Amino acid sequence: MKIKEIKTVIKEYNDESELSAEDINLINIAKKASKNAYAPYSDFKVGASLLLENGEIIEANNQENVSYPAGLCAERVAIFYAGAKYPDVPAKTLAITAFKDQNFIDEPVTPCGSCRQTLFEHESRFNSPIRVILAGNKKIRIIDKIGDLLPLVFDMSYLER
Ligand code: THU
Repeated sequence: MKIKEIKTVIKEYNDESELSAEDINLINIAKKASKNAYAPYSDFKVGASLLLENGEIIEANNQENVSYPAGLCAERVAIFYAGAKYPDVPAKTLAITAFKDQNFIDEPVTPCGSCRQTLFEHESRFNSPIRVILAGNKKIRIIDKIGDLLPLVFDMSYLER
């Protein structure tokens, strides 16, 4: 028997003062986008901003449905829109935040499993990492690539084996 440990590096900040102007801008755009979420069922409004390599910034938010599973998370709205509008352009950085009970959340929200898998598809398709900024009022986390959030990921290589 062998034990393997998988390590994930997460950078944590208490506020925005140590972040670059580019990252702060992305957080502000995600905050703005969260207010436009369609989330009448959960009242949990997630906002995302996605910086592409061509400099475009895509804004997205969660879109819910009365048939709950038909709704879509902010992260997937962002990455699918990027794929639809700029099919050949890799994404560089994704910022995520959420608005609940009239405030931005204190603890950063983290992408769900389906969003991680979807974002990973983009990352591996372009062989280019997507930095992730998880922004809360009291804490900001930065992860260097989506793959770091998906140990033992199911990837394209399995289809070729
Ligand atoms: N949601 C997102 O949009 N992104 C996340 O990272 C977590 C959850 C949405 C899905 C649903 O509309 C609401 O938040 C509550 O789960």
